[in-house]
Amino acid sequence: MIAQDIVRTVDFPKERRIGPSGRLRKIRCADNRLARARAISWIVRAKIARDPAPTGARSNVSIERLRLIRPDDWHLHVRDGAMLDSVVPDTARQFARAIIMPNLKPPVTTVAQALHYRQRILAALPEDAGFQPLMTLYLTGQTSPEEIRRAADCEHVYAVKYYPAGATTNSAAGVANIRQASAALKAMQDCRLPLLMHGEVTDPAVDVFDREAVFIERDLSWLLASFPELPMVLEHITTADSASFVRSGPDNLAATITAHHLLENRNAMFRGGLRPHHYCLPVLKREAHRQALIEAAISGHPRFFLGTDSAPHPKAAKESDCGCAGIYTARTALGLYAEVFEAAGALDRLEGFASLHGPDFYRLPRNTDTIELVRRPEPVPELIEFGGQPGVPFRAGGEVRWRLA
Ligand code: NCD
Ligand code: ZN
Repeated sequence: MIAQDIVRTVDFPKERRIGPSGRLRKIRCADNRLARARAISWIVRAKIARDPAPTGARSNVSIERLRLIRPDDWHLHVRDGAMLDSVVPDTARQFARAIIMPNLKPPVTTVAQALHYRQRILAALPEDAGFQPLMTLYLTGQTSPEEIRRAADCEHVYAVKYYPAGATTNSAAGVANIRQASAALKAMQDCRLPLLMHGEVTDPAVDVFDREAVFIERDLSWLLASFPELPMVLEHITTADSASFVRSGPDNLAATITAHHLLENRNAMFRGGLRPHHYCLPVLKREAHRQALIEAAISGHPRFFLGTDSAPHPKAAKESDCGCAGIYTARTALGLYAEVFEAAGALDRLEGFASLHGPDFYRLPRNTDTIELVRRPEPVPELIEFGGQPGVPFRAGGEVRWRLA
């Protein structure tokens, strides 16, 4: 059942313009003056995955409502304690599942810790939330093949996360040289337990804007050559280099893309002054890279999928002389992605990116229920509460063009 229902407003009464190849099948006409009216709403069903058509051909069509198979977030930070209670409902409202990052203090390095953390997440969920946290382990130099096998056998652990030591928030316990984790990687390959990568080198001699590209050269190429059967996800890609490397890479390599890297370039960090709430890692890049990421996200390519990397930090920890990296997008995540796909004339590709490609890559069942988005502005508060402390969400004080119906 690959279906995405859309309510469109057609600017011109030219039925032919709706779909480039008859791909869009009208199932209900809300206004029988179709041929005469200038703006008409109707619901169409787009078979999006089987017959992807070139995008851009529908620029005269403005879509107002969108029904998608419920999406999943394949990269999420929910923290712990009071912060967890505050943030996890935002994700549970929109997504069925999320891959939960293990970079707590101390990190989640064992299956036993992951199961306890999972219980705390479940306890923080609103009643009746059908949300499922998909747990991960934090790879260290000490991660044993036995622990990997326990993880693969555990129904709640879905991947292992590689943080190069010192690359980002709470990564000090990560792996200094990935080649030293070969035994664990071999066990992961044997069990087909995916490796999720923070893809940046930490070599201080490498410019901060080049760290992802150099990671591909120095480490990812080695990983692919050494573990050709290991499923790998290059997380939160930020560059044209990564997008083209993944696109032309083998089937065991995929990438997640955040909403903020699709919506902002590096100018956002310096707009009128220093803007700590636009600081994340990997850092925002120049406009040409953002354009390449949009191309990848809307391409319909099955190895690109949604991962918000929503990463809450209290306002005070961001507005500091050494501010934390991380942007909180979970409050309005789906609306933000819908904005990107709409602006690119590719809303019919959103379901693949948000709801289908991820479970297919992880070999998990696709969700069966649906959600509906409407094009009605959603105001974003200036501040939201992160476990008793103020936090600043992405687009604070502004609005997002799409919201949950
Ligand atoms: C993340 C965090 O705060 O945990 N920060 C970020 O800027 N993305 C860590 C990470 O994913 O790099
Ligand atoms: Zn992250």
